[in-house]
Amino acid sequence: MAEMRIGVIGFGGMGHYHVDTVKVPGVRFVAASDIDPAQLEDAGSLNLRAYCKDEEGFFSDPEINTVLVSVPNHLHKKYALMAAKAGKNVICEKPAALSPEDLAEMVDCANANNVLFEVHQNRRLDKDFKIAKKVYDEGLIGDIFNIESNIHMPNGRMHNWHQFKNCGGGMLYDWGIHCIDQALQLVPGKLDSVYCDLKSVFHTDVDDCYKIIMKFEKGDTVSLNLSTYVLKPYPRWMLCGSKGTCVIQGFDGSGSIYRTTGLVEKLPPRIEPNPAGPTRSFRPMPPGLLYQEPLPEARADHLDFYRNYLRAMSGKAELMVKNEEALRALRVIMACFESADAKRSVRFADRP
Ligand SMILES: NC(=O)c1ccc[n+]([C@@H]2O[C@H](COP(=O)([O-])OP(=O)(O)OC[C@H]3O[C@@H](n4cnc5c(N)ncnc54)[C@H](O)[C@@H]3O)[C@@H](O)[C@H]2O)c1
Repeated sequence: MAEMRIGVIGFGGMGHYHVDTVKVPGVRFVAASDIDPAQLEDAGSLNLRAYCKDEEGFFSDPEINTVLVSVPNHLHKKYALMAAKAGKNVICEKPAALSPEDLAEMVDCANANNVLFEVHQNRRLDKDFKIAKKVYDEGLIGDIFNIESNIHMPNGRMHNWHQFKNCGGGMLYDWGIHCIDQALQLVPGKLDSVYCDLKSVFHTDVDDCYKIIMKFEKGDTVSLNLSTYVLKPYPRWMLCGSKGTCVIQGFDGSGSIYRTTGLVEKLPPRIEPNPAGPTRSFRPMPPGLLYQEPLPEARADHLDFYRNYLRAMSGKAELMVKNEEALRALRVIMACFESADAKRSVRFADRP
C-alpha cells in the first residue's frame, strides 16, 4: 500500500486547509515551508517540520515523497519544477500555471523525472457540480440547450496577492479555471468558440467580474458569470433542457427540477389580455401546470482526490485530473483574455 508523505510549500490559507481537512488513511503531512514565520507558528502543533526560507532543506527532506504546491499562482512553476527534479510527486494548486506553455514544461519535467503531477481541480468533486453532471449525463431534462454557472459573492475585494496581475491574481485565474474545468467536464466534444467580457469593478490591476460564453460543437452553450459584488446571487446552476429546467441554488446542492404538464397545448391559441401585456408565449403560466421534482442524489467527497492519488501511486488508477485536461482549461483561459482584449468571440476549435 502506497503512502503519501506530503510537504506543503506555501502554508497559507489553502496549505492549512489541506492539512486540516485531509484525513485519509495512507496520507500524512510531514513538513511545511513558507517565507513567513507567522504562517509556520502552528506547524509544531500539527506535527509538521517547519522550513522557513529554507528551500534547500525542504526539497531535500527524505521523508517527503509528495510536494503540495500552494504558494501564490506565479510561483507554482518554480516549485513544481524543483519538486519534480528532487524526485517528489507533485500536487499543484490551481491554476497550475499562468500559461499553457509553462504548464507543459512542468508536466514534461514531471514525466522526465518519473514522478506524478496533478492539478488540484477539486471543484470537480463539489456536490452542486456532481448533481449538474448527473442531470446532464442521465438526460434527466431532455436535450440541454443552455447551461448557466454562476458565482456571485458579496465581499467585493480580493485579499493580498490575489489583487496583483504579476502574482497571477484576478478572478479569471482564480475561479474561472474551476468553472471552465467544470464546463469542459460537463459537455463532451469540441469547444467551438469562446467569448469573454472582463471587468475590474473594485480592483485596478486585475479582473473581478466576468461573463464567458462557451459554445460547443454539439450545440450546447455554457455561460459562466462571476462577480465579487452581487448581493442577491443568481442560482449556482441553471440547466435548461427540452423536458425541464434544473435549478441548483448553491454549493449545498439544494434546488429542484421544474417541469410542466402540457403547458404548450393548454395555452389559448390567441393573445388575451394578461399581466405581461399582449403576448401569448410569455404570459404568466396558468396555475397548476408547473410542478417540481427533487434533484437527483450525488455523492460528493473532496477526499476522493487524495484516495485517487494514492491508488495512482500504486498504479491501480489513473489520476483523476489528467494533465491534458488541465492544459485545455488553461488554453480556454488564454482564449478568454484574448477575447476580452479583442472585444469579440474567438475560435477555439482548432486549438488542441
Ligand atoms: N483549490 C481550491 O479550492 C483553492 C482555494 C483557495 C486557493 N487555492 C490556491 O492555493 C494557492 C494559495 O492560495 P492561498 O489563498 O492559500 O494564498 P495565501 O496567501 O493564503 O497563502 C500563500 C502562502 O504562500 C507563502 N509564500 C509566498 N511566497 C512563498 C515562497 N517563495 N516560498 C514559500 N512560501 C511562500 C505565503 O507566505 C503564504 O503563506 C493559490 O494557487 C490559490 O489559487 C486553491
